[in-house]
Amino acid sequence: MDIFRTKSIEAFREGAKEKKLKKTLGAFDLILLGVGVIMGTGIFVFTGVVAANYAGPAIVLSLVISAVACAFAALAYAELASIVPISGSSYTYSYAVLGEIVAWMVGWSLILEYSLGASAVAAGWSAYATGLFKSAGFSVPQALTAVPADGGIINLPAVIISLFLSLLLVRGTKESTTLNRILVAVKLLAVFIFLFLAGPKVDPANWTPFMPFGISGVVTGAATIFLAYIGFDIVSTAAEECKNPNRDLPIGIIGSLIVCAILYVAVAAVLTGVVPYTELNTGEPVAFALRSIGYNMGSALVGTGAIAGITTVLLVIMYGQTRVFYAMSRDGMLPASICKIHPKYQTPHIITILSGIVVAIVSGLTPISVIAELTNIGTLFAFVITAVGVLVLRRTKPNIHRPFRCPAVTFVSLGAILSCGYLMYSLPGDTWFRYGIWSAIGLVVYFAYGYRKSLLHPRNQEKNQAA
Ligand code: ALA
Repeated sequence: MDIFRTKSIEAFREGAKEKKLKKTLGAFDLILLGVGVIMGTGIFVFTGVVAANYAGPAIVLSLVISAVACAFAALAYAELASIVPISGSSYTYSYAVLGEIVAWMVGWSLILEYSLGASAVAAGWSAYATGLFKSAGFSVPQALTAVPADGGIINLPAVIISLFLSLLLVRGTKESTTLNRILVAVKLLAVFIFLFLAGPKVDPANWTPFMPFGISGVVTGAATIFLAYIGFDIVSTAAEECKNPNRDLPIGIIGSLIVCAILYVAVAAVLTGVVPYTELNTGEPVAFALRSIGYNMGSALVGTGAIAGITTVLLVIMYGQTRVFYAMSRDGMLPASICKIHPKYQTPHIITILSGIVVAIVSGLTPISVIAELTNIGTLFAFVITAVGVLVLRRTKPNIHRPFRCPAVTFVSLGAILSCGYLMYSLPGDTWFRYGIWSAIGLVVYFAYGYRKSLLHPRNQEKNQAA
């Protein structure tokens, strides 16, 4: 039973040739692209939630630790993305380098990353939308804005936005650079308004005790806030559209991570400085903090910016999710029928709607932190495997053309494996348990379906040759 069969890099490149993309992006565009897809629920929701539950004001340290792990992983990612610049990200890389079963497990984890990541982001969107309604004087009943574990029935705004965006994706939304720039500007403006208004009201007494839950709280905080940086992998998939990938890709990826990390740390420091961290366990901490220091108008403005910013992140993650399914079904590992292209809109409508429904159900019924931790463990697993893949490929194919070569590759890859592995280890036992169940289901599906239907299965290869 050959569960470690690999799909050749050449085959992937052949597939990629079909879509020749214009090489128009420079480093600055990539940084904007990165900030556009990275900054969302993490900064606007999780900074508060993680401070309240895990790290206290030391959330700023959690953010830095998480950023360092991401930076290592991002460099490794960029090398593989430049070799195989097609959709499917680490699933694709693992298939080319580490073998089918590893790729399957990575793909299976990515489904978790994208579906649950989208659900967490939708829940964050809902919190800000509800807050805005409240500020405008409409009260929305808690039963319809909170999940059952928080005393509600369903998080309806999260359900509505997920379904709405999946319909939008079915219609096909062309990513427009101009629109992206505008939305990034709105989002950044929201952050700056917050810093400008709340910054002068910081009371350093709120920063004491700095580490109420000790070092372990800081590290668990880092593993939980990790979600805030998810999205940079999407920058690396733009490799094919870069004018000069070798120079621009690392600047774009690391640059967007640095911009986000600096803003995250600044927001977290101000947030925990104006309100005691114990009060920040709310879905819209940034707007809440502004309200509690008397800026109702400012709070509404920042809330609106947050909603705009979170919407783009949600759209991109939901789009990314359909691409992972698409990549897996193209290889025969998932039924091709679910990825059928719509005759009029030219989009994979069935999987887009199905994913939208899953995201709607999960975000409507599950607490946001449970979703976020599960998202993180799946993503961290994919990052660890990607870093292993980079090292293996350097040994097995030292001479293959690498438009971008990861600097100090052994150090960086080991850094990614150890730091992401440690963050995985720091996640709560319940998260591991849920991830274990998800992986076990994945293995069953692989052996029952993926293994037999894979285009690399000898029987299917014979069929293809005969056809
Ligand atoms: N990084 C994305 C966010 O924070 C997932 O919303």
